[in-house]
Amino acid sequence: MANVQELQHPLIQHKLTQMRKKETPSHNFQQLCTEISRLMAYEVTKDLETEDVEIETPLMKTMQPEIKEKNLVIVPILRAGIGMVDGFTDIIPTAKIGHIGLYRDPESKEAVEYFLKLPSDVEEREVIIVDPMLATGGSAISAIDSIKKRTDKPIKLVNILAAPEGVAAVQSAHPDVDIYVAKIDEGLNENKYIVPGLGDAGDRLFGTL
Ligand code: PRP
Ligand code: URA
Repeated sequence: MANVQELQHPLIQHKLTQMRKKETPSHNFQQLCTEISRLMAYEVTKDLETEDVEIETPLMKTMQPEIKEKNLVIVPILRAGIGMVDGFTDIIPTAKIGHIGLYRDPESKEAVEYFLKLPSDVEEREVIIVDPMLATGGSAISAIDSIKKRTDKPIKLVNILAAPEGVAAVQSAHPDVDIYVAKIDEGLNENKYIVPGLGDAGDRLFGTL
């Protein structure tokens, strides 16, 4: 069964509370999304592979660890996942970025794929899918399905807010994918929105309310 980790750091929880507030404007919401993503990235990448390389300090030659040049591909689920990319690339600038476009059909609430572009060396990199929201899990499961057709490398899923229903759905469909969240909320409302939640993450990030 996939592992799920709630990252309880007080800085993450404090910033998430600011994101939830309905009066938080888009530019602050974006900033908070980036800051939480950066803090989550630190934890999510703690098992990133390193290799020893020879360097020269002002005093001598020495072998020291560096993360591999081909390390990660970060895959935001469009649109809202875009809001998490900078937080990851701030600390791992050599990561490549793939994109997967999915929207939830407003009637069926099912994920519909409209775009996919991954780097040509995706098979040589671990994959981290980012999306602020894991609600029913439909979008995440569909993204993982698509990416698994293109690589056998390990895949992680990083969400800021999750509903227990979404976590369970991903765990059942993809038991090999580790899930990292800032908070697992109470559940979903009748419109399949996370409650208490933060509303529509894409609309709040991009001001399309
Ligand atoms: C949101 C969110 C996730 C999805 C989660 O995207 O960013 O991708 O819903 O819901 P699910 O777990 O039930 O699939 P949305 O479809 O609103 O598209 P957007 O990012 O373009 O606003
Ligand atoms: N997508 C969002 O943006 N918010 C939710 O609460 C559920 C899905």
